[in-house]
Amino acid sequence: MIDKTTVERIMDAADIVDVIGEFVTLRKKGANYMTCCPFHGEKTPSFSVSPSRGIFKCFGCGKGGNAATFIMEHERMSYVEALKYLAKKYGIEIQEREITEEEVKQNNDRDSMMVVSAYAQQYFTDTLLNSREGKAIGLSYFKERGFNKTAIEKFQLGYCPNSRSAFTDKAIKDGYKKEYLVKTGLTIERDNGTLFDRFYGRVIFPIHSLSGRVIGFGGRTLKTDKNIAKYLNSPESEIYIKSNTLYGIYFAKQQISRLQKCYLVEGYTDVISMYQAGIENVVASSGTSLTNDQIKLIARFTLNVTVLYDGDPAGIKASLRGIDMLLEQGMNVKVALLPEREDPDSYTRTHTADEFRAFLDANETDFISFKISLLLSDTKNDPIKKSVVITDVVHSISVIPDTITRTVYLRECSRMLDMEEDILRMEVAKLRKKKLFDGTPQKKQDESGINEANVKTPAIPAFVSNIYCQEQEKELIYYMLHNGTDQLFRIPDESGEEQIINVARYIINEIRNDDLEFHNLYYKQIFQEYDQQLAEGDAEPVKHFINHMDNRICELTINLLSEEYKLSTIWNQGDKPHIDLSKAVPRAIAVYKSKIVNIALVKIGEQLETAQREKNDDEVTALIPRIITMNEQRKFFATMLERIIL
Ligand code: CTP
Ligand code: MN
Repeated sequence: MIDKTTVERIMDAADIVDVIGEFVTLRKKGANYMTCCPFHGEKTPSFSVSPSRGIFKCFGCGKGGNAATFIMEHERMSYVEALKYLAKKYGIEIQEREITEEEVKQNNDRDSMMVVSAYAQQYFTDTLLNSREGKAIGLSYFKERGFNKTAIEKFQLGYCPNSRSAFTDKAIKDGYKKEYLVKTGLTIERDNGTLFDRFYGRVIFPIHSLSGRVIGFGGRTLKTDKNIAKYLNSPESEIYIKSNTLYGIYFAKQQISRLQKCYLVEGYTDVISMYQAGIENVVASSGTSLTNDQIKLIARFTLNVTVLYDGDPAGIKASLRGIDMLLEQGMNVKVALLPEREDPDSYTRTHTADEFRAFLDANETDFISFKISLLLSDTKNDPIKKSVVITDVVHSISVIPDTITRTVYLRECSRMLDMEEDILRMEVAKLRKKKLFDGTPQKKQDESGINEANVKTPAIPAFVSNIYCQEQEKELIYYMLHNGTDQLFRIPDESGEEQIINVARYIINEIRNDDLEFHNLYYKQIFQEYDQQLAEGDAEPVKHFINHMDNRICELTINLLSEEYKLSTIWNQGDKPHIDLSKAVPRAIAVYKSKIVNIALVKIGEQLETAQREKNDDEVTALIPRIITMNEQRKFFATMLERIIL
């Protein structure tokens, strides 16, 4: 049995596009993805996947379901097996052994904390809408701020009475345990044992999980006293992991996915005002700096993010680093600067929704140009300051995973900074190389300081998202396992000494240098662990996989090693060939990369078509250089493949 809370965590973590994309190539169509149904034979796609709803549906054969039921059907697994599969994919722990009392308690704790949070939300909302104090103070405050009834109800806003422990007393009277009231931070316990409400006298903004459960609260004071914190928030807890949460994501996800754009703002009130003005694809990082997990949460629905800033240059500069993180995760980042002294909340109050939308459309600029002009505005032609700007911007470009996007930005940057593109390109290459050889492995997970077992989201898709070349991945893994430690090349290093590159090292470098990633779960794991084994000086990494703890890895390894594995691209000439590794392995790499380039080209082609149809000139202009560069790459691989004849 897997307990309910764990099931919920698994289903929240499972990104359906990512899950199904392991098995079929999904093509984006509006907010959804389409493909030919894997459950019945068909030529025209009628199988649709909705990332915001987390479901699939085939309009041909009628099959439909969620990520877990897809795995059940497709992989012929039981429900529990499918959940385990997903849990593994998303790094969520489930206990297979008998669960200990401690663990039972932990899971029950989570449940109880959710329950008490839901109760508190109802209490706060009820107090806001129905009590005399709530109406007179809370509701009139929201109304004064211009929040309408629909928005107040939608976001489940509330009010906590101004008497020290009114909420806690009522909750305890209604049978809720002190323990959970304290654990969720709703109630604070003094040293002498007395209890009081964290949020007393404040209006309440509940914070919802991706699936819409209340997991925390923000409480705003109505006093103007500068010594009182404007907002108090729920503390980090087993259910409220701040680094994993975005305010508004539950309400926004569908529109983010449909419109393929996410607005990122600072605070609760910005989200609500924009939503109320009809711009529903908006979330807030709630005052903290952005984390990788938050970015991954957005990336499930779109790669296009527009960050809204109010016109305070100090604040903007402080947040630039967070934006580098967005770039690093392969997001297309734009920035819109609001007029001085305005935030989205105040702006929507003085403008109509249409005006706001028009403003956003007209004022969005890509992040790199924004950053360059922002930084240049202070340099006043001071060459030293300018060189600092260049270094800074070059750094931002260097973290972008997609080669083509980097190229486009380099061009723009060279124009704006009036510098040779090649010089900038070299700088970027240097930084990237440095990062590669620094041995800085994966970036550290964001430290929530709480519970490491909590949801880890999957890797971000770069521009090659959902491009999946199962056969080629298999072939490369085959070589790593079969010939990993065989010598492939000798190259002279800096000191003139000869350095031996083995098959596995070559493959790993080739994949990593282009920021590619295997999509098949097991191949990906083997790839990563192989790299680790090499780093740890293991002379025979293959043993690690033969004796692997995970039975499936072990089996897969043995099959690949023993079976006469028919490598389509090599053994197409019949008889047992003698394999020349120095040709076969680079060829396998070239086949893999050219496949990815080809599929990506098809995708960009589709984007171009849409952009042209919609007369979206900016988009067309942005896509053309991508297509050109991709085509160059395609030619490169094609020639390379012609040249390597086995
Ligand atoms: N914030 C916080 N604690 C504070 C101040 C701010 O947690 N003491 C967070 C809140 O999530 C807030 C966001 O940072 O929504 C942005 O702060 P700010 O712009 O000051 O608040 P607004 O949301 O704009 O609230 P208001 O318009 O009511 O001032
Ligand atoms: Mn504000």
